Amino acid sequence: MIEPHIPVLLEEVITCLNPQPGDRYLDLTAGYGGHSSAIQDKIGPKGEVILVDRDQNALQHLRKKFADARNVKIMDSDYYGASKKLDEAGERFDVILADIGVSSPHLDNPERGFSFSNDGPLDMRMDQRSDCTAEEVVNTWSRDDLAAILLDYGEVGGAYALTDRIIARRPYMTTSELAAVIPGNYQRKQKLLMQVFQALRIAVNGELQQLEKSLPLWHSLLNPGGRLAVISFHSLEDRLVKRYFAEHAGRAFDADLKSLTKGPLEASQNELVFNPRARSAKLRCVQRK
Ligand SMILES: C[S@@+](CC[C@H](N)C(=O)[O-])C[C@H]1O[C@@H](n2cnc3c(N)ncnc32)[C@H](O)[C@@H]1O
Repeated sequence: MIEPHIPVLLEEVITCLNPQPGDRYLDLTAGYGGHSSAIQDKIGPKGEVILVDRDQNALQHLRKKFADARNVKIMDSDYYGASKKLDEAGERFDVILADIGVSSPHLDNPERGFSFSNDGPLDMRMDQRSDCTAEEVVNTWSRDDLAAILLDYGEVGGAYALTDRIIARRPYMTTSELAAVIPGNYQRKQKLLMQVFQALRIAVNGELQQLEKSLPLWHSLLNPGGRLAVISFHSLEDRLVKRYFAEHAGRAFDADLKSLTKGPLEASQNELVFNPRARSAKLRCVQRK
């Protein structure tokens, strides 16, 4: 089977999560199953695996990849919805992984509209069934709302000036139409494009809201001794994870998490050579006491 996505920080994830035979494992962003199959191998046939994703292409790939595995259950859901459901059902896990962000097929398939390097519709939905697309955000959101996401999610300097420029040239249907109005010489334009597309993607998919609401649920879903690893690709996401872990793995008398990573772990030079997309990945891991 051709694997369209290379799992990031795989060795580090395995070391931190330390999966054991018979463990119960929850993967909240299973994607193309790279981390999942490595962890599934470690926990063996007596372990149990639940794989979650909200992207239909990823789910189709996972269903084929794990078709013969009796101990694997696949959930078609956003991770907040899945976590809430599992928590309410009283499910508990020894190993939990969230590798949040986009997969390589999101970026490589122009039809998904995530990439400014390939022309495609302004879509950017991870869940192809959801209503809000990047086209709607760019063409219909108010000046204040658009500037707020460029500033907050894209960390764009001069967010209002850029918003005015974008609004003045509405409407946009494709990624190249939007890319064409982003100003600057080559280097500045590339940086701005990256920031604008990132901001739109985060807004379209409610990424920060999903993460913020899910962290307490992931905590609750851990068995005593269970390990939770989160890989993030954006400073705002990493800040949410860092803050939550610091609050619950600190010195407070009721802190019931223990940090397994001193600072965030990042990809080695060696990994970056064969997977440059691991560049901004940050891994943090905790264990429930
Ligand atoms: C970086 S990829 C994960 C790759 C995976 N670890 C692997 O080894 O193949 C992130 C995946 O998370 C999914 N995803 C992102 N946010 C999600 C959310 N809130 N709920 C469910 N899935 C989500 C995306 O659709 C994508 O498939």
